[in-house]
Amino acid sequence: MHRRFPVVKTDLEKIDNDILEKASEVLKKGGLVAFPTETVYGLGAHALDERAVTKLFEVKKRDLSDPIIVHISDLKQLDELVRKVPSVAKRLADAFWPGPLTLIFKRKETIPDILTAGLDTVAVRMPSGILIRKLIKESRIPIAAPSANMFGRISPVCAKDVLDEFQAGIDMLIDGGPAEIGVESTVCDVTSSKVKILRPGGVDIEQIESIIGSDVFLEKDKELLKRSPGSVQRHYSPECDLVIVEMGPDQIERVKDLFTSFADKGFSPGILAVREHAESFPSDSVRVLGSLNNAKECARNLYKRLREFDKSDHDVIIAEAVNTKGLGLAVMNRLKKASGGSSGKHPI
Ligand code: TXA
Ligand code: MG
Repeated sequence: MHRRFPVVKTDLEKIDNDILEKASEVLKKGGLVAFPTETVYGLGAHALDERAVTKLFEVKKRDLSDPIIVHISDLKQLDELVRKVPSVAKRLADAFWPGPLTLIFKRKETIPDILTAGLDTVAVRMPSGILIRKLIKESRIPIAAPSANMFGRISPVCAKDVLDEFQAGIDMLIDGGPAEIGVESTVCDVTSSKVKILRPGGVDIEQIESIIGSDVFLEKDKELLKRSPGSVQRHYSPECDLVIVEMGPDQIERVKDLFTSFADKGFSPGILAVREHAESFPSDSVRVLGSLNNAKECARNLYKRLREFDKSDHDVIIAEAVNTKGLGLAVMNRLKKASGGSSGKHPI
């Protein structure tokens, strides 16, 4: 299908004012604009405009039970969204805003119910991405923005990825080059005294623990996670099936065995490997996620590689596990979601 919206390119170092003005007009009138943030590309709408937010759900085919994050550029904007800012939230915001951390607060009534999926809480993030920050300032509105992909699919990390997802339904796409971090923000619930991580992401759990001075709770309660549907199984999914091979001394051999067993069954397996192992595998089937010791690189490449596999002839991805330190936790979380929970021990 022919694309039905404008794509404008800008250098993030010197953002074109015309583009900001145009995009902010679109948002104020209730339209949808896709843009880069430091984590992934977002699809933005006026957060307090119920019709605009409804359009967001429709275009993404997003389940109405999945609430959306509101983006702000100034702490003063928090007051119109949330009832109370607990002291632990203040400390976390001081430490990580602007940046890839989303905090869950008790919400005010001014927010459309649809945005929070009827919950009594709202997710808020002050991004560091320069374009979205300027857009919030220019339009003077809080911007609701999920990742700019169809519901359940891989998040986009460049403008081309957004074009893979949408041919129509959005009003403008701003191409500001590749997203810096490559995985979404960390979602952290600060509504009770026990700080909970609902989704690991751009800010490490270790960093959060160092600020609050105690361990955080990695939310595993299925009931609670239903409220944060981005955290349920089978999400961030490529079209290919994905199987994870856990770390261990015989990891390379296990990848090779799995590769052979898939090939014997008539599949065309691809291998998402760490750089240090890549040469051990058939070169026409392997793609490098990043170095074993570089979680940032792995995070930046993850969605790009999964999309490449989707476009290739491979029909199953064998992914090597990485260390869960720092950003590695977010990488493994997304790989597990993409696999629907399957592991190399149980090939499909
Ligand atoms: O990095 C990011 O967070 C990107 C960029 C665009 O900012 N946005 C993003 O949005 O990843 P989305 O909609 O793809 O994921 C938002 C996650 C979902 O898992 C959602 O369930 C959770 O945040 N969430 C939103 N509001 C919530 C709430 N009130 N309580 C619990 N979880 C919430
Ligand atoms: Mg998303």
